[in-house]
Amino acid sequence: MLSYTLVVILGTIITSVPVVAFPGFPRLKQLMKIDALNPADLNNIGSDAADDSFELIGDLITLSPSNLTQVGRDVKELLMKSGSPESDVAYIDVPALDSTACAQDTCCVWKYIADEMTDLFRGESGRCTRWARMAVRLGFHDAGAWSKATAHRGGGADGSICLTEEYTFQENSGLEDMCLQMRTWYDEWHTKKGFDISMADLIRKQNLLHPVVSSEMGANVATVVCPLGPRVRSFVGRVDSAVPNKSELLPSPFSDALDLIRLFRDKTISPHALVALIGAHTTSQQRLTNVTRAGDPQDSTPGVWDVLYYEETYGSVETPERVFKFPSDVALAKYSVTAKEWVSFLGTAGQGHWNTDYASAYIRLSLLGVNNINQLTECTKALPARTEEYKNPDQENMDEWLKSSQVSLTSEEIADRIELGGIVDINNLLAGSSEREIEL
Ligand code: HEM
Repeated sequence: MLSYTLVVILGTIITSVPVVAFPGFPRLKQLMKIDALNPADLNNIGSDAADDSFELIGDLITLSPSNLTQVGRDVKELLMKSGSPESDVAYIDVPALDSTACAQDTCCVWKYIADEMTDLFRGESGRCTRWARMAVRLGFHDAGAWSKATAHRGGGADGSICLTEEYTFQENSGLEDMCLQMRTWYDEWHTKKGFDISMADLIRKQNLLHPVVSSEMGANVATVVCPLGPRVRSFVGRVDSAVPNKSELLPSPFSDALDLIRLFRDKTISPHALVALIGAHTTSQQRLTNVTRAGDPQDSTPGVWDVLYYEETYGSVETPERVFKFPSDVALAKYSVTAKEWVSFLGTAGQGHWNTDYASAYIRLSLLGVNNINQLTECTKALPARTEEYKNPDQENMDEWLKSSQVSLTSEEIADRIELGGIVDINNLLAGSSEREIEL
């Protein structure tokens, strides 16, 4: 909490102008050679078959079919767009944590960790909390700091974001608390499991409980905890790295669509997949992009994994004043190459399509820089169940708050409450704040 508060305070002090710059992207152009846009992007715009990436990554590029494990075959299929990227496979009976059966099942302990994560990720309203959103963003920022052009230098989903000073880089602002929490979980579960090793050992060894696994499992637990979110197939066993990744490889909210498309293309992520991934902003409440509007959501239902974000960002429905749209999101919504796919997610019929596309794209993202895919273990069964139907119990109050972007003590308190998944009760909050004013 402390570091988060510090970041917000620092952000407020440092920026005499309200908008914090995300400097990474211009430096990126020097870091890697960006080719002209792939011609495929301009043909077959929005077509599912033509506009997806089928490219293999990691060790799957070189392994022959006869050397593939079951997981290797499954992931290969998923990357090539066959097989379902979502799954409801779940434990029926979970072995006791201290049992031999649990010790022999790599996923068993993950079921216990996922349950503990769920408690933090779900608020009393049933919506997901800021912890869940940070976990999804953390998974992206760990894995997404990778590019084909610089792959020989490492990077990707390697846990370095929480193991090194990487989380202090400006592009990763807002993720400090999540890294602290990942370390807390590591300490707790590492101790419980009885591994007596240092952090350095931890970084060298595979298949131990460590932040890299937490960051990608954490993201998938968080996604499914958000009401309506997909249950993304999840794999564990990545290898840690003690080398910080190039955070310049992460996107800026002020980039234009073409730059974003090029940036993600160099991560093997197609424009189509980018449109699906960016929908994670449906849950978001920005704090640092515009510090004068800290807590303002990116759609009218923060904490819910619904398609309203696509509708409001595109402008097909009226959007309340408080909804803050990132320029980069609007750019993708309107750009010729991405607009058709964007529009295909609008309306209730778009939810299923989006969830499948998101799950497929996130599996790819979460495996960038992973060179032992063939040795991973699938632990989807450890995830919590999805919530397929959800209606905000307090949408009327939320709508009142969304009508005005003016900051007041009450509106900040409402933002904080929503961030923690609490139920919005404007009358109680108003009564509370006038009592405090009298005290003052
Ligand atoms: C064009 C690409 C992207 C850009 C420019 C971008 C930018 C941002 C920015 C500026 C914030 C708000 C930070 C703040 O002010 O507090 C944010 C939040 C968030 N982003 Fe992205 N993002 C992108 C892609 C993604 C992807 C691919 C994912 C996940 C798969 C993702 C997940 C999130 C989540 C969950 C939040 C909310 C975090 C919170 O509420 O604490 N973003 N993003």
